[in-house]
Amino acid sequence: MCGIVGYVGKRQAAPLLLGALKKLEYRGYDSAGIALSGKTFAVKKCTGAVKNLRDAAFLEGTCGIGHTRWATHGAPSERNAHPHVCGRFAVVHNGIIENYKALRAECEARGERFASDTDSEVVAHLLEFYFRGDLIGALRQACARLMGSYALAVLCTEFPQTIALARSKSPLVVGVGGGVWCASDVPAIAAKNRTVYVLADGEFALLGEQATFFGREGNVISKQPLEYDAAGSIPARRGYRHFMRKEIDEIPAVLENRPHAVGLPTYAEVRRALAAAPHISVVACGTAYHAGLAAKYAFEALSRVRCEVTVASEYRYGDPIVEAGDLVIAVSQSGETADTIAAAQLAKERGAAVLAVVNVPGSTLAGIADFVLPVSAGREIAVAATKSFNAQLMLLYTLAATLAEAKGRRGYGDLLKDFPALARKTVSVGEGVRAWVAYFMSAASVYFIGRGADYVAALEGSLKLKEITYLPSEGYPAGELKHGTLALVEEGTPVVAVLTSEKLAEKTMNAVHEVYARGARVFLITSLEAYADAAELTGAVVIPPCGDVFSPMLSVIPLQLLAYYVALARGNDPDKPRNLAKSVTVE
Ligand code: M6R
Repeated sequence: MCGIVGYVGKRQAAPLLLGALKKLEYRGYDSAGIALSGKTFAVKKCTGAVKNLRDAAFLEGTCGIGHTRWATHGAPSERNAHPHVCGRFAVVHNGIIENYKALRAECEARGERFASDTDSEVVAHLLEFYFRGDLIGALRQACARLMGSYALAVLCTEFPQTIALARSKSPLVVGVGGGVWCASDVPAIAAKNRTVYVLADGEFALLGEQATFFGREGNVISKQPLEYDAAGSIPARRGYRHFMRKEIDEIPAVLENRPHAVGLPTYAEVRRALAAAPHISVVACGTAYHAGLAAKYAFEALSRVRCEVTVASEYRYGDPIVEAGDLVIAVSQSGETADTIAAAQLAKERGAAVLAVVNVPGSTLAGIADFVLPVSAGREIAVAATKSFNAQLMLLYTLAATLAEAKGRRGYGDLLKDFPALARKTVSVGEGVRAWVAYFMSAASVYFIGRGADYVAALEGSLKLKEITYLPSEGYPAGELKHGTLALVEEGTPVVAVLTSEKLAEKTMNAVHEVYARGARVFLITSLEAYADAAELTGAVVIPPCGDVFSPMLSVIPLQLLAYYVALARGNDPDKPRNLAKSVTVE
């Protein structure tokens, strides 16, 4: 993870670097730092978020690099904050240098001293070792020694108005206009009249008065600029206290974007690939994995086509049964999740076609996929995914309805048209969960239960809660509790049941009776009004009737709100939960 930036131009670099770094905080906020070029480096570092670096705004210099960190190797301390300096070089790094121990031992054997516990510092040492006056030459030699993933921005005191860049498996873009810039993503440096280029794996660049790009062999190459929407890539909170709450309110509008994907030429190609695929596989992580689980219910229920869903980190190191003709759907909000990218690559190597379902069309995952369908949720800032989940569901459900149609089962696509309006109503009634907050404040553990598609909503509700409230929480199939987990339910334990399936309602209510009998405080999210008055309930939110196959698109909304309000009440920042980052670009 981590975010890196660089600026070289005529203006003072420090405030520009700090501004860009703030936009990259979704990638980590364990520590931050900047270095400005000169005869020596002016370096400032801090623990925690970029705001703690405000003194650095007064550093003088028109060329510099910056970093916001999500700690992998070495504690989140000032000592381990980037940039790392060795001799003539200062380096910021995003990624993981897997062979850093061996490289560090080699440097230490030469008598070099290290100032941090990170994997990244070794890059500065290698640069100092290989440098013979040629900056790109030294960078290429250093990179040839590295295993793992990296996006690197490098300063060298011998070239005080230059930044050198290298990329392998971690994103890096260059912006030209109003100075020359680099960053881990486009929005950090997006501006009107700024041309953006995406550095590809194995490429290098030198930024000075202009940007010069180099291929693997050190040859100068020309690059096509990226088409991007500068205005659309910088969302504001617009009066909301937190992005997460704003993003929940955006769900109804986001669900209206479905026809956009359906109208794309790629959609017709995907429809053909889906219809021809003997079965479907989904790979994803976290919330996107839950979207995949929800899609499985829809694919199997509507078209009786087998769908298997695997956590990407398990898929990539397993020996998945995947072959030519299979369709593998890789779901990812960011399109930069290292495990999902690696799983998609493995599926491709084995002959499958890969469909990327992403929220960031220019992302790495989109770049390697055979087909790309955008979920068009708009930029999501809060680390906890909300609107992107609903948007992923809308797209995956649309695909399920399309496949069902190809199998002669029509009409499901029409049902989806009602969901933007239903979601609007659900956000409004979902506010009712605020009355439940006190019961969750200091719970030793919380359980979310459901059956079928409701179980998926329970899983996602539980992930949201633990992620931003830090309360231990589990999502469970309602019928499975009594096989062990029921032992953990005691007086006052909050249990949230999700119930939208008419067919399974009584079965889920059995679990409600069982936990209530053991002292649990039971809360219900249901589309079946008749169950909302059950005597066992401490609270109920009744969402609009919506059938059960697509119901997670609505039932998850009160659960997202619940997590948000409990996090607030516990004094947490819901947008920036501890230890996490929005984009998980390391494994
Ligand atoms: O960008 P991706 O969708 O690939 O990210 C996957 C997970 O890291 C992500 O969904 C994570 O679980 C969220 N923080 C959950 O809210």
